[in-house]
Amino acid sequence: MLSGKNILIGITGGIAAYKICELIRMYKRMNANVRVVCTPNALNFVTKLTLQNLSQNDVGVEEFNIEQYKPEHISYADEADIMVIAPATANTIGKIANGICDNLLTSVVCAFNKPIIIAPAMNCGMWENEFVQENIMKLVNAGFYIMEPESGFLACGYEGKGRLCSLDKIYDKTVELLSVNKILSGKKVVITSGGTIEAIDTVRYISNYSSGKMGAALADVAYEMGADVILITTKDVQKPYGVVKVKSAIDMKDAVEREYDSSDCIIMAAAVADYRAKNIADYKMKKSESNEISIELIKNPDILKSLCEMKQKEAVAVGKGSSVLNIEPHKSPVIVGFCAESENLMENAKIKIAKKGCDYLIANDISRKDIGFSSDYNEVSVISKSGTIKNLSKATKKEIAKQIFEEIYG
Ligand code: PMT
Repeated sequence: MLSGKNILIGITGGIAAYKICELIRMYKRMNANVRVVCTPNALNFVTKLTLQNLSQNDVGVEEFNIEQYKPEHISYADEADIMVIAPATANTIGKIANGICDNLLTSVVCAFNKPIIIAPAMNCGMWENEFVQENIMKLVNAGFYIMEPESGFLACGYEGKGRLCSLDKIYDKTVELLSVNKILSGKKVVITSGGTIEAIDTVRYISNYSSGKMGAALADVAYEMGADVILITTKDVQKPYGVVKVKSAIDMKDAVEREYDSSDCIIMAAAVADYRAKNIADYKMKKSESNEISIELIKNPDILKSLCEMKQKEAVAVGKGSSVLNIEPHKSPVIVGFCAESENLMENAKIKIAKKGCDYLIANDISRKDIGFSSDYNEVSVISKSGTIKNLSKATKKEIAKQIFEEIYG
């Protein structure tokens, strides 16, 4: 996967800089073209000559060393397919998060519009510092890929979180990002996630065990595949794409329907409550003397079904009138539902896709503890309207998400 790829490594002034010599060799062994830029402090830990020999390229340190027609930071940014900053010190992280460009490395980052992996390494107290954490969150929200440091014995003598993560992890992330197929570029993808929260009174609610991981994995992968993403979720998340926080099924329905006209694909991964309390008390209900209490429930709207009905109406309208009005008809989105079943999965999924009328239904066995609700893994079948079935074997939710998009758009 790395052969012929241009990888730009940024090294900053931390003791873990020596480890990056081996990372360069790992990329070079796979025939990648590696270039290195260093902050001046990085050269206190590793020599320019070592890095030049290993990368078989000049090493950039000085910002104003212009030999070509382009300023140096722009040519580094233009040439590379990906940038990997390791180790990243608290100082450089702070500069990047705040748009400061006072050396070659930080200027390259500012001009870089492709994926950037950042692998921080520092003393555990520095890693926990609230400003460092704020800066890390800023970078996460801006779409940088942060490789969390690991815990262990640190070079400064402390024990805690701050060690550079393993080189294998950085290498695998590089391969993962460079092998992403941008099949969703130019498309707007809307994804729902999490269990809806249906209030009973001001302090109690009905919900379910959905963690929001499956929906978030779909949204992350869609973003990496080039889509403009909106994640409509009941969970608190910070993402580099649009997030709309909702609570109840009714809130979720409003939010999804607002996006309908402008979207190319809508995926309902949320676990939407089928029922809600008929009357929501606007106070905390008191415990009574009785041992029993009844809460009357009424049916929630079926969001997926109503999206499919909107699409159906559009198809009929296009058939009837667009040629007369001579206007470009709205291109309806691809609508994908999930089907969570604890028994007779495939039989129930086939009935559900016909009932709801969606283009694809992802059949999800929720009787197993190792996949489905709350797990980091899933194993699903992608069923299409025309009746094709693709079984996706157990994998991380991110890998499953990738295969779902490849099945729909590949
Ligand atoms: O969040 P995680 O912990 O990662 O778990 C992921 C998951 C198991 C929740 C997810 O993979 C999943 O299966 N989501 C669908 C859960 C569900 O509600 O399934 P269902 O079979 O009851 O509903 C079928 C479809 O109709 C779903 O797309 C659902 O979003 C939708 N629906 C359901 C009820 C309703 N009132 N409106 C809806 O739109």
